Amino acid sequence: MKYKVLVVAGTAAFVQLAAMSAFAAEPIQVIPPAKVADPILAELGKKLYFEPRLSKSGFISCNSCHNLSMGGTDNLKTSIGHNWQKGPINAPTVLNSSMNVAQFWDGRAVDLKAQAGGPIANPGEMAFSHALAVEVLQSIPRYVGEFKAVFKSDKITIDEVTKAIAAFEETLVTPNSRFDKWLMGDKQALNADELAGYALFKDSGCTACHNGPAVGGASFQKMGVVEPYKANSPAEGRVAVTKQEADRFNFKVPTLRNVELTYPYFHDGEAATLTEAVDIMGRIQLGKKFTDKENGQIVAFLKTLTGDQPDFKMPILPPSTDATPRPKPFE
Ligand code: HEC
Ligand code: HEC
Repeated sequence: MKYKVLVVAGTAAFVQLAAMSAFAAEPIQVIPPAKVADPILAELGKKLYFEPRLSKSGFISCNSCHNLSMGGTDNLKTSIGHNWQKGPINAPTVLNSSMNVAQFWDGRAVDLKAQAGGPIANPGEMAFSHALAVEVLQSIPRYVGEFKAVFKSDKITIDEVTKAIAAFEETLVTPNSRFDKWLMGDKQALNADELAGYALFKDSGCTACHNGPAVGGASFQKMGVVEPYKANSPAEGRVAVTKQEADRFNFKVPTLRNVELTYPYFHDGEAATLTEAVDIMGRIQLGKKFTDKENGQIVAFLKTLTGDQPDFKMPILPPSTDATPRPKPFE
């Protein structure tokens, strides 16, 4: 009897292994749901993510430019910063950003924690300073209590702020897209056009750069491999970080997860639609001109990569106190 159970279990394990190696043969893998290591830290990070008082104006939060109701982006060509300043580059999505090899288009931040301090002190974004941001939080006893619960100290530091924001961002993973369901064996999850689009995506060579669970995010690649990309923006890409001429105009390959929601496209936001982005990619990365039908099929496939969006209760932020430094929205 015992033996029989073992055999059944063994068969199940074999079937699972076979199925797993079938997935492994695909250049795109299932995106696993987030494992939240420290829910209290992530919850504090969520508040800070929505906290406009981390900006000089008291008006701009991470969510202003990475709107979680809109795929973690602002859907603008380039972002609007403090005093309505025009940003230099398109805001990438924060969804699944924990899977990126590094953060920013040029990868200048090694991870989410290193990234999170940037916008607060960036004069073109939140235009604050780390010291002032901490002073604001420190003046609000409920924040002091929440930081103390996690970090066991009465004194808030910027390191703790960025750690908490990063912990929240790590929860922003989007599983259960139709494409994942298909990968996991639900052959009804995609229709014929979407499957044809996926075949084109693979056979044309898109997966050389857009692969893995995030369908990108894993490497830096030249924008304009076969044909140069004509950009109006001054962004130079990875060379700005490495100072290696070979890295000129190399950008982090963006994730294509939720790409239906994260328009407009490319580091300069110049491609307004997926149709345009796919056409440009085909031509300048692969020397391939897709027909309207093929383009439509690839776009249909890309839209199957939209997963479950973050779903949570809006955080209610503790009110300022008499001691809280006041916002300076028009300076
Ligand atoms: C004014 C708009 C704006 C605000 C506010 C802002 N960001 Fe960004 N964010 C951007 C832009 C633009 C980029 C791309 C910059 C670059 O690559 O040079 C970016 C990049 C990022 C990235 C890198 C994603 C990737 O794929 O490389 C993350 C993560 C991120 N921001 C998180 C945050 C967090 C956390 C906050 C709040 C502390 C924040 N952002 C505030 C506009 C903004
Ligand atoms: C040689 C590597 C490479 C290949 C091949 C490639 N891409 Fe890309 N892809 C990139 C890079 C790098 C970017 C970002 C470029 C930029 O913004 O300057 C990008 C951006 C995109 C974007 C815009 C995403 C966003 O959020 O802005 C889409 C859509 C896209 N690629 C689809 C495709 C499709 C479809 C194919 C195949 C026809 C393809 N790519 C082939 C490297 C590649």
